[in-house]
Amino acid sequence: MKDELILAIETSCDETAVAVIKNGREILANIVSSQIESHKRFGGVVPEIASRHHVEQITYIIEQAMKEANCLFSDLDAIAVTEGPGLVGALLIGVNAAKAVAFAHQLPLIGVHHIAGHIYANRLVTELQFPLLTLVVSGGHTELVYMPEHGVFEVIGETRDDAVGEAYDKVARTLGLPYPGGPHIDRLAHEGEDTLDLPRAWLEQNSYDFSFSGLKSAVINQLHNANQRGIELKKEDVAASFQASVIDVLVTKSIRAVKQYNVKQFLLAGGVAANRGLREKLEQSFADNPVELVIPPLSLCTDNAAMIGAAASIYVKKGRFATYELNGQPGLELNH
Ligand code: KG4
Ligand code: ZN
Repeated sequence: MKDELILAIETSCDETAVAVIKNGREILANIVSSQIESHKRFGGVVPEIASRHHVEQITYIIEQAMKEANCLFSDLDAIAVTEGPGLVGALLIGVNAAKAVAFAHQLPLIGVHHIAGHIYANRLVTELQFPLLTLVVSGGHTELVYMPEHGVFEVIGETRDDAVGEAYDKVARTLGLPYPGGPHIDRLAHEGEDTLDLPRAWLEQNSYDFSFSGLKSAVINQLHNANQRGIELKKEDVAASFQASVIDVLVTKSIRAVKQYNVKQFLLAGGVAANRGLREKLEQSFADNPVELVIPPLSLCTDNAAMIGAAASIYVKKGRFATYELNGQPGLELNH
């Protein structure tokens, strides 16, 4: 049978990314052009700047990916693109680039949910076995998602306020660390001790929901109080204490869900999946568990287009193609 080749585009936030994926599982090219340097001085992503960079980069990155994959447009079977959620201006650049390529080469178009993409990054590691559970932890999302089969997502728990990555970035900012702060906190946490008394938001007894804004405020308050009393808390200890609280809640709820849902696999997904402390704690917790733990390599945790191509391959099989009405949808739901 002929190999299936998908050109995938991801521009939902501050990475212009294009990939070519073979048979849904093999990466032929995976180019990520990060704009972090342009946003750093503002302490976060500036939507207008993100859109402008995407416009400047997209054609060039598509060409680069095609060249690296050693592939012609006539070899492709479909064009996939992140349709949401994300920054509307940023999404539109990717969606319109995808439409243009699809139209010019008469190829089917596929819209992919950004979080479905993060989850399917795991399919580039191993074949998915259902039913499975996945913990999605990114800058905008914190969700426990149950999947009975390919392409079906049931959110069993989600954050009621801040996403984990958002809490990481805000605490990092208070500690005077550069944007994005997650990786800096992760690094400092490994050099410090869990000495601060910080809350864990367990919520109602059976809930798989999360809440991180109380923890974030507690860290910021302790830093301010210490500051007013002229005491300097060690950044490393603050990072270690914050990270311990986050990981405790994430891993405890995940293990409980794995027991209740009787799944074959547990996947980790999203930018915060790059967190060393979280990866280590999950590996320890699953060491004696028959459920297979799957964690993507670091390069596939943060935003990339390979994951969009991996998810799109499922939609090709299901015949779920988009029309030229496809649009950027900033608030797109995972179960759409
Ligand atoms: O998935 P992602 O690249 O973008 C979104 O879809 O949101 O996630 C970005 C988030 C940022 O908040 C960043 O600080 C966080 O992932 N992050 C980390 C680590 N690496 C990235 N958080 C904690 N530890 C890390 N090592
Ligand atoms: Zn993401």
